Amino acid sequence: MARSPSFICQSCGAIYSRWQGKCDACGGWNTLAQEAASAPVAGARGGGRGSGTGKGRVFALEGLKGASEEAPRVASGIAELDRVTGGGFVPGSVILIGGDPGIGKSTLLTQACAALARRGARVAYISGEEAVAQVRLRAERLGLADAQVGLAAETNVEDIVATLTDGAPPHLAVIDSIQTMWSSAVEAAPGTVTQVRGSAQSLIRFAKTTGTTVILVGHVTKDGQIAGPRVVEHMVDAVVSFEGDSGHHFRILRAVKNRFGPTDEIGVFEMTGRGLSEVANPSALFLAGRDLSAPGTAVFAGMEGTRPLLVEIQALVAPSSLGTPRRAVVGWDPARLSMVLAVLEARGGLKLGSHDVYLNVAGGLRISEPAADLAAAAALVSSLAGAPLSPETVYFGEVGLSGAIRPVAQAPARLKEAGKLGFARAVAPASLKDAPDTPPVALEGLGHIADLVATVAARRPPARDGASANR
Ligand code: TYD
Ligand code: MG
Repeated sequence: MARSPSFICQSCGAIYSRWQGKCDACGGWNTLAQEAASAPVAGARGGGRGSGTGKGRVFALEGLKGASEEAPRVASGIAELDRVTGGGFVPGSVILIGGDPGIGKSTLLTQACAALARRGARVAYISGEEAVAQVRLRAERLGLADAQVGLAAETNVEDIVATLTDGAPPHLAVIDSIQTMWSSAVEAAPGTVTQVRGSAQSLIRFAKTTGTTVILVGHVTKDGQIAGPRVVEHMVDAVVSFEGDSGHHFRILRAVKNRFGPTDEIGVFEMTGRGLSEVANPSALFLAGRDLSAPGTAVFAGMEGTRPLLVEIQALVAPSSLGTPRRAVVGWDPARLSMVLAVLEARGGLKLGSHDVYLNVAGGLRISEPAADLAAAAALVSSLAGAPLSPETVYFGEVGLSGAIRPVAQAPARLKEAGKLGFARAVAPASLKDAPDTPPVALEGLGHIADLVATVAARRPPARDGASANR
């Protein structure tokens, strides 16, 4: 009987018995490709010792306990980058770095290559997008032209692997970008999912066999996914995204997946005329230019991994002229905004049904912590009431559907950071377990969202006859 061919989604790996235009599993269009049914197992080696079946080689299983070498890491010396990778590059590991075009991926990697080369490492930078002269020009602009980095503009994976394995393999190889690579072993046009996957496979094999750390640059699609096969994300050891918006100078490096380190650490950079510079104290940066007297701004004492980060949350609540009021949010989860608004209405007694609501996290940062609920709520109430919050206060706490303010983790670190930046008070969950003694910052416990509404309303400036403070 003829074996039916299988069609495999090159993006997510789902298998179909016949071709179709759209993958039901991941929603990708035109991602199915016919693949030969797996070849019969090539000549079983040596015969099974004692297995009786004659197929496969018998190998010894080992216990969990035993000698394991802690992978020696290669630190780049760029502290913000090393923080995200978990203390440096692990030899033989493959890192995929994604980000919008023009966000600074090539700049960051040029700087990382130069930093490593200056520490004596062998480094290769393979550009598939730019000519050698362009890469040189960038290096000159960054003041790094003297670093000993091996440079090439190549796109064929076999050639690249052959070159890099000729002589001592480099410690670090950057491939900019994986979408431009093609392998002659794969019959598909460059840039297609099959090619990207095939090229990534070859480069990953190269990394594992030589111990070279390989960094693959990946393009992202409009909705922020790394373009091409999702399976590449599964194949690599770490996926890092480089974020930021073009209107701001801040760039945030964030680990999405990391087999050798934490995934919640961020590295903060600032794009300057001479490349990316590290931002050692991001809180000060994100709070710069704050309007202390306006209603509708609250400072959130957040955490990004092990690092506390203070950011300003801005809200604007204004009467709506539309039948369905607008809700717009930048830098935060719209679903959480809806939830906080619902809780403020149901438990805090506010009427927001005929108001437009806008929420913005200043500086282009994106927050995902539930602990931001209380700060967002404070900003919203402050804007609605036209009552500026105290400029010396930070807020953190999770808001439950009952209106209760729930405790959050790592309160001491948040308070310490607030103290460092000159804040005097923190409005936090009353039930904070590890309520610490942080003398510079007085803790103000809050049990219920209604208490927040009451305290903010009490700060309303003497009535100017119902005039709204929102312009
Ligand atoms: P680039 O690293 O080429 O982005 P990507 O590889 O992610 O596409 O960075 C491009 C942008 O960075 C470009 O708009 C110019 C800006 N830039 C600076 O502002 N300062 C610099 O020193 C450099 C090299 C680039
Ligand atoms: Mg680039």
